[in-house]
Amino acid sequence: MKKLGIIDSGIGGLTLLKQLIKSNFDAEFWYISDENNVPYGEKSQAFMLSQMREMTKKLITQDVEGILIACNTATSETINDLRSEFSLNFVGIEPYLNYINKEDVNPEKNIALILTQATFRSERFKKLKSEKDPNGIIDIYPQKNLAILIESLKSENFNSIKDEVLEELKFLKNKRYDHVILGCTHYPIISNFIETTYNTSTVDPAQNVANRFAQVLGLSEGKNKNNYFRYNPNNSNTWKTIHIEELSFLNS
Ligand code: DGL
Repeated sequence: MKKLGIIDSGIGGLTLLKQLIKSNFDAEFWYISDENNVPYGEKSQAFMLSQMREMTKKLITQDVEGILIACNTATSETINDLRSEFSLNFVGIEPYLNYINKEDVNPEKNIALILTQATFRSERFKKLKSEKDPNGIIDIYPQKNLAILIESLKSENFNSIKDEVLEELKFLKNKRYDHVILGCTHYPIISNFIETTYNTSTVDPAQNVANRFAQVLGLSEGKNKNNYFRYNPNNSNTWKTIHIEELSFLNS
């Protein structure tokens, strides 16, 4: 069975891993989060690249054949460098601006995108925006604290962060959006809350990205009934085995 790596600054990439496990792709998944340095949303490009290099090397020692950068921020700031430095397949995730170009999406609708500040200021995002939404149909809102608030759901329940989340997202009260595109892999963890509180629908490209990763790495669906993955917080040399159902914050 192929071994594949997944990297995020924190728990966000687990929303992509969940899709991969749900589809029973025939692979063993090795997940690294950068526990000591999450969030990446305000870090410099140089810092992120050095962390991503280190985590890539750690995954290579486990003989992974490809890596999913399950983080919009790290993809936008580091994927080009990583591809040129390592002879491995890297697949990344980017804010789904192309959503407005889908045939069944009405551009007359109000559409917002939320993403991290680092993704927003990256050259890669500016290019993506000029290609996919040159007329500025989508309202774009960089978020300062949302990813780190969500990261705390590892050990706390949602009620303890609810007020701060409401404060972060208060702009969603000023205008009603039909769709809110989630441009950070942490955000789908609270998608139900966003939908019910702001009477909107959220757009998460996780399934498309999981399918793309599977296609690039030549995986077959339905071939693996294992629901576990290996986990390393990047501040330890030990890999833990975790069953995806153990992570209650993924099921809220
Ligand atoms: N989950 C990440 C993303 O998709 C990063 C969040 C952060 O570390 O700021 O952008």
